[in-house]
Amino acid sequence: MRFEPVSLLTARLVLRPSAPGDEAALAAGLGDRAVQRWLETVPHPYTLDHARDWVARSARERDAGFMQDFAITLADGGAVIGGIAFTPSRREPAAELGYWLARPHWGKGYGGEALARVVRHATEECTPRFTRLSARVAPDNIASRRMLARLGFVENGVSVDNGVERLRYER
Ligand SMILES: CC(C)(COP(=O)(O)OP(=O)(O)OC[C@H]1O[C@@H](n2cnc3c(N)ncnc32)[C@H](O)[C@@H]1OP(=O)(O)O)[C@@H](O)C(=O)NCCC(=O)NCCS
Repeated sequence: MRFEPVSLLTARLVLRPSAPGDEAALAAGLGDRAVQRWLETVPHPYTLDHARDWVARSARERDAGFMQDFAITLADGGAVIGGIAFTPSRREPAAELGYWLARPHWGKGYGGEALARVVRHATEECTPRFTRLSARVAPDNIASRRMLARLGFVENGVSVDNGVERLRYER
């Protein structure tokens, strides 16, 4: 299995493969502790080298079918404002979602807009189709929980990874 390097459009966003040239925006967004605190495996400090590695890894993992990753960009101007990815689980046809936006872009509905589009892609458009989607969210990440609930995800249990508790959301 491999994923195609597709781009997805929404009213205000273009979700496209991460590409060389994205590094500065990735490092600025993911280097922010306020973003990192909600994510599981982001190094600190997050450098341009980390961002370069991510861009290369994103293409490799897409080609290998391990992960489908998109840079979230503004349709108006093309700036990279975040990222969203899904990873097939061992229990296919299920996949787990992960996403982030740079702090200046929070609270404008971009997260829900990107997630809704990726959910549609994963469940209706891509090959293979994923009938079950999940996300793991810190209990106090209210914005992410609301976003998932609005898109029909429901809480289903708790997982503890490296001593950190996460709520599991599924749809
Ligand atoms: C989670 C995240 C992607 C949400 O994206 P966003 O575009 O800021 O979210 P939205 O503007 O679509 O808001 C989602 C909902 O949360 C609410 N919300 C937003 N910020 C909030 C806050 N600080 N406290 C409470 N509610 C909040 C919004 O009102 C909205 O609720 P509604 O749908 O009932 O109107 C973004 O905040 C982010 O990148 N956070 C850091 C990384 C992260 O948490 N990733 C997810 C890990 S599971």
